[in-house]
Amino acid sequence: MAISADVLEKICTEEDVPELDLSWLKPDDARKVEKVHPGRRGLTFDEIEKGREVPEHTDTFSILPRDASPRKDAPRAGLYYTDKADVWSENARLLYEEAVQRQWSSATDIPWETVKPLPDDIERAMCQFCTFLTEVEFIAGDAPGQWLPKINPAHYETKLFLLSQIMDEARHLDVFRKRALVNGGGLLSEGQSGPSLRIILDAKDFTEMSAIMHIFLEGLVQSLFRMGEYISYNEAEKRIFRLCYQDESRHLGFGIMHLKYVLETEPWRREEIHHYLDQVEGPLSLDLVNVSSAMPYFDEAIIILAGGGLKHVDEGFQKLMAIRKRQINEYMHRLEVAGLGERRDRMNPMFRAFLDPPRN
Ligand SMILES: [Fe+2]
Ligand SMILES: [Fe+2]
Repeated sequence: MAISADVLEKICTEEDVPELDLSWLKPDDARKVEKVHPGRRGLTFDEIEKGREVPEHTDTFSILPRDASPRKDAPRAGLYYTDKADVWSENARLLYEEAVQRQWSSATDIPWETVKPLPDDIERAMCQFCTFLTEVEFIAGDAPGQWLPKINPAHYETKLFLLSQIMDEARHLDVFRKRALVNGGGLLSEGQSGPSLRIILDAKDFTEMSAIMHIFLEGLVQSLFRMGEYISYNEAEKRIFRLCYQDESRHLGFGIMHLKYVLETEPWRREEIHHYLDQVEGPLSLDLVNVSSAMPYFDEAIIILAGGGLKHVDEGFQKLMAIRKRQINEYMHRLEVAGLGERRDRMNPMFRAFLDPPRN
């Protein structure tokens, strides 16, 4: 319906045009920010934030972007954290940039044509393994998602990193589901990992969540992916494990540097961190060491895959133990890098049994 000439004339009358505010337009202020030039790796956050301070503390509870001018009428946004140490990791910017540059597609970057028919026991073991990993990846995506709204925009780097992690985990979930289905095996039994993994979703503090998810669980998964050649039967599977390993390295890299930052800036939290690790090592150490305990399907699948079938269970078990040993020693190494080396003597005994002597 056309606008009548009367109405058109009315809305075009000059006196009805609102006066512009323009209080935000202060060219003199804008000139205080120096022009930034892209560096060797492009216009990264390290370049753009060079010389700008990250506040140790903020009293802002609105969605005020760092360095913007606050408004007095801005509503609170339900943020929880105000201190840098609560959420900070020195490598968050770098890891976010790397994550953006290294995205891959399960549709086109995996040579699916190399997946050929496999003996039934091997195919089913791979499908059970992928079913378990699909569950794990759900939790790995949901857990950081819970913390996003609680992190202050003053420390936006952590938000960006977590968002990139969620995208990574979505891709992991998708690639393991595709592997389970691509060769006619399908998703098999829901694992028994739920009760132990729920501890991550139940965390009440960001550092608690990060220590038990990034350092502990994703560390174990990353070590397993690193040994992907033990359990791969074609190029597609090798590529899946290699790409997921690369992504997981970023996630635990964030966790290690966050823990390091907390231990250096808030040393009084050391015992609290040990408590979180006690809580997670306890139930999961049973999963890892006793093959017939909380996660038998997962362990049995690895035994079949690593041994080369049901007829080679002994060999598979030896390889499972080699994987465990590597997982636990790498876990300890990450804690040492974070500054929690005394964990060696406090680790759950079921884990400690796998530890190599300390490196000098
Ligand atoms: Fe993952
Ligand atoms: Fe991850």
